[in-house]
Amino acid sequence: MNQIALAADHGGYELKEAVKQLLDERAITYRDFGTNSDESCDYPDYAVPAARSVSEGISERGIFCCGSAAGMVIVANKFPGVRAVACQNEWAACMSRLHNDANILAMGGRVVSLEEAKRIVTIWLETEFEGGRHARRLDKITDIEDAPQPAS
Ligand code: RB5
Repeated sequence: MNQIALAADHGGYELKEAVKQLLDERAITYRDFGTNSDESCDYPDYAVPAARSVSEGISERGIFCCGSAAGMVIVANKFPGVRAVACQNEWAACMSRLHNDANILAMGGRVVSLEEAKRIVTIWLETEFEGGRHARRLDKITDIEDAPQPAS
């Protein structure tokens, strides 16, 4: 696995640190875009550069954490080629890889425990995209991204 981009706000900081521990144990390279404490901050400040890194192919995937996962997903999915999914359990993480080829996993520090988060990350890293009909569906999303923007 190429580099994983990590991003969190204060609500996901502890989760991000737990994810780093797991990635270290597995010798998976990551770039930590912050935040670096549980002091209140704004999630776009960390999600934007990290999502850009995935969108531009500098990072192969991303793991983003905030309080609920919602803000991180909203930001990340604005970037071309990003498929960010909020996962509350292992099944959702597995499906996000099998059917959606999710390249950003988002989790909520106020939703999942640290132990559950580690299990979610593990299955998300280990599950391959199924392709086939799911690839056809993703192609239809790429077509939207490539469509010319209407003149304003
Ligand atoms: C911060 O309080 C919280 O709003 C943020 O972590 C996230 O849940 C937003 O979507």
